[in-house]
Amino acid sequence: MMAQEKETKLPVGSSCILEGPLDPCSIIILGATGDLASKKLIPALFKLYSNGALPEHFLICGCGRTPLSQGAFRKRLEALLGEGKMGQVEKLTSFLSAVYYHRVDFDDPSSFDALASWLHEKEPEMGLKGRLFYFALPPSLYAKSARLVGSSTLSARKEGRWLRLVVEKPFGHDLYSARELDKILHSYFNEDEIFRIDHYLAKETVQNILIFRFTNSLFEPLWNRRYVDYVEITAAESIGIGNRAAYYERAGVLRDMFQNHMMQLLALIAMEPPASFETSTVRSEKIKVFQVLRPIPLDRINDFLKLGQYGPGRVGGRPVPGYRQEPGVDPGSIVPTYASMKVFLDNWRWQGVPFYLTSGKRLAEKNTHIAIQFKEVPHSMFRNVLGEHIMANRLVIGIAPEERISLTFQTKAPGPKICLRSVTMDFSYKEMGEAPLLDAYEKVLIDCIQGDQMLFWHQEGVERSWAFLTPILERIEDPSCPCGLTIYEAGTWGPRFPENEEAQ
Ligand SMILES: NC(=O)c1ccc[n+]([C@@H]2O[C@H](COP(=O)([O-])OP(=O)(O)OC[C@H]3O[C@@H](n4cnc5c(N)ncnc54)[C@H](OP(=O)(O)O)[C@@H]3O)[C@@H](O)[C@H]2O)c1
Repeated sequence: MMAQEKETKLPVGSSCILEGPLDPCSIIILGATGDLASKKLIPALFKLYSNGALPEHFLICGCGRTPLSQGAFRKRLEALLGEGKMGQVEKLTSFLSAVYYHRVDFDDPSSFDALASWLHEKEPEMGLKGRLFYFALPPSLYAKSARLVGSSTLSARKEGRWLRLVVEKPFGHDLYSARELDKILHSYFNEDEIFRIDHYLAKETVQNILIFRFTNSLFEPLWNRRYVDYVEITAAESIGIGNRAAYYERAGVLRDMFQNHMMQLLALIAMEPPASFETSTVRSEKIKVFQVLRPIPLDRINDFLKLGQYGPGRVGGRPVPGYRQEPGVDPGSIVPTYASMKVFLDNWRWQGVPFYLTSGKRLAEKNTHIAIQFKEVPHSMFRNVLGEHIMANRLVIGIAPEERISLTFQTKAPGPKICLRSVTMDFSYKEMGEAPLLDAYEKVLIDCIQGDQMLFWHQEGVERSWAFLTPILERIEDPSCPCGLTIYEAGTWGPRFPENEEAQ
């Protein structure tokens, strides 16, 4: 059953926040030869360019240790972007003409000064007004790179020119390292110049959580302990760790998914209505959610946390190795690739409502969603005919693979008898088909160029999130902890809490 919404075509009833033209700027990617740059950043920049969404004047400067000529770097990108881009040859050629490559040596600050001199010459010619530094680097290099950029003339302040620094997750390894990293970033950059990315926040449905909650009066009155039984936030992946063993062995699922994405989804679902749609008010309401996270009792950790690690199994009909058999993984590794955590928020709205946060790799399918499970009706007038139990309403906000919202409710099945039938009213972004969906990295890049930090982490949020997770990490990483690690067969769903077992 499709929501009536489908009949109401945009732009009737649609309204948009007006955004001005983007400042012409330089986009400097440190780590331009790496995986993130090739898979996400460069394709996103090209797509934005193809759709006329980048500033009229810009340059992209890829930087890395790899010695590459300008021509060789452009050729690389041409090969990367050329596949399946028939008909876009002219666009690709003009896009590549704005792309440059500079070799930098992270042990030689003068290579950063040389990059600065080149930019100082190039930017005035093109009328560029801003510099966006994107750290597409291994996290171990963030502090060093911030020092190199910050202490060179690359970050010299100048009237009329903005500077922004984009940092990818993870922001530290625990509370202490996050604070340490922050201290270094803040030695050179102000908080309003630091963009800590969580690309989950840039997905349409994730942004839509705010719109859905705070522009419809229908759901907000029900959004509390009186009507909500529990909330599930699930980010299931069917892929394994691929070639990221070195990173994953140090991170595990709690650092990889919980400290950032899961916490942000929790904040969006649980936050109070901000007074205005502004970066400071929205971010401050989210921080208040982290403030009221009830610490997990470490002496009863198993009642609140289920940990798992994928063993061999089948995914999509194909046999796949277990985590311990992945290249680069310690054959005796106890790093969790799956966690399900029951958390409570100690405030008026959510007292007593469990939030189940679940994420794992090599699960049965890729599926990221948030489910609001409402309570059953308090009294059933149909008790005699239907029994006591009537299935409660469920609202599901799907994030991946498809961005959709569905609401399940009860109706009478047609016919002479009184029979209930659950139906689902479904809204799909894809089926709306009105405008091309921005990929998360496209949105992130546009927001950085625009200077809009709403979808980025504030340092206080980072620290509060780590403050909640660090004692848990210390506990489960203590070899004496009887924390329990279930080895689940790849392609299945991992261990769950008994009360929440049937939901998926
Ligand atoms: N890959 C993804 O899909 C993805 C998704 C989300 C977040 N991230 C985050 O994005 C960041 C970059 O990830 P990535 O996968 O692109 O990393 P990567 O491929 O391992 O490294 C990126 C680049 O950094 C440079 N580099 C590596 N080690 C270095 C060293 N010791 N000294 C100086 N330069 C070094 C390399 O370029 P040169 O050798 O040319 O200097 C490399 O191409 C990480 O923080 C990651 O967590 C990645």
